[in-house]
Amino acid sequence: MGILQKNMKIMPEKDDVMIPLSRFPSENEMTILKSKMESLEFCTYEFEERKILKKNLSQVLENKLPPNALASLPRSYDVIGDIAILEIPNDLFEYRKMIGESFKLLNPHYNTILAKDGPISDTFRVRDFIILDGGPSTVTEHNEYGCKFRLDPLKVYFSPRLSSERQRVTTNIKKGEIIVDMFAGVGPFSIVIARSCDIKKIYGIDINPCATNFMLQNIKINKCQHKIAVILADSTKIPYGSFSADRVIMNLPEKSLDAIPQACQFLKPEGGFIHLYLFASEGTSTEILSEHIRSKIKLSDRKLAALETIRIVKEIGPREQQLAFDLKVV
Ligand SMILES: C[S@@+](CC[C@H](N)C(=O)[O-])C[C@H]1O[C@@H](n2cnc3c(N)ncnc32)[C@H](O)[C@@H]1O
Repeated sequence: MGILQKNMKIMPEKDDVMIPLSRFPSENEMTILKSKMESLEFCTYEFEERKILKKNLSQVLENKLPPNALASLPRSYDVIGDIAILEIPNDLFEYRKMIGESFKLLNPHYNTILAKDGPISDTFRVRDFIILDGGPSTVTEHNEYGCKFRLDPLKVYFSPRLSSERQRVTTNIKKGEIIVDMFAGVGPFSIVIARSCDIKKIYGIDINPCATNFMLQNIKINKCQHKIAVILADSTKIPYGSFSADRVIMNLPEKSLDAIPQACQFLKPEGGFIHLYLFASEGTSTEILSEHIRSKIKLSDRKLAALETIRIVKEIGPREQQLAFDLKVV
């Protein structure tokens, strides 16, 4: 009859059973109920709420996938704005659509479900994705500590997992600084800094026109036009001495080691700070890495005055990590 209030518990009460109803039964319904029950009374009663346990992906797909496939279903996912990104193992490839649809059923608040379809590659550091559900537009707006980033993960790099690293970098910045963000993407480092620090200027450089386009939009959305200048360029080909910066951010972990001499040339004659990101296998000697860094700095006739921080930013694969180095260069 559809008159049961399903989010409330049926309760025992002395010799009676209390059944929560969502409305009073109609005359017809009452006749049926009375014919089925020895005694029936209506009253007002305070019911306990029923905890409805949310199913997980494996429970939803229990009767649809073989047991070995159920065992390798993804257990975590990334979120960028209203997009959820799953990593589906190769052996589940044939079930990917079904997995995406079931995930969406469980998580209806995501508009689009993507599956990673290969590693991050190429100069623009963009990954291939398959749209499992939703789309066709994959442009979204991601919120991070009060900043908004509009982007399309199919066209630009963006990692929500760097949010605490961005916050950490802001704590180093002093009033009036000039900063060069050499590999700025859609501008997350530049914008987080511009919004929370009293800096003079940030130059956000990227070689991907889609990224600089989104960066311009994001600067507007976050109202920091007066603090950030966007440059569409290969930052390793910008002439030496173009900037006189206090700080350089180098978030291109695959290539940033080779770009150190260039970064040093962007610093003021008296020197400054570099936030350098690198990939390394777990257990790689930080002394060896520091030696590489030192020798790259020497190529620009500068000197490593202090290696202030070395920290693991995130795991990027089995036994592979992204590391952050805070360098003081003179
Ligand atoms: C790993 S992403 C980092 C983006 C951004 N900093 C962030 O945290 O989201 C690296 C960025 O560097 C850009 N890039 C790669 N080579 C470049 C170059 N030679 N000059 C300027 N940008 C470059 C890519 O397009 C990409 O947006």
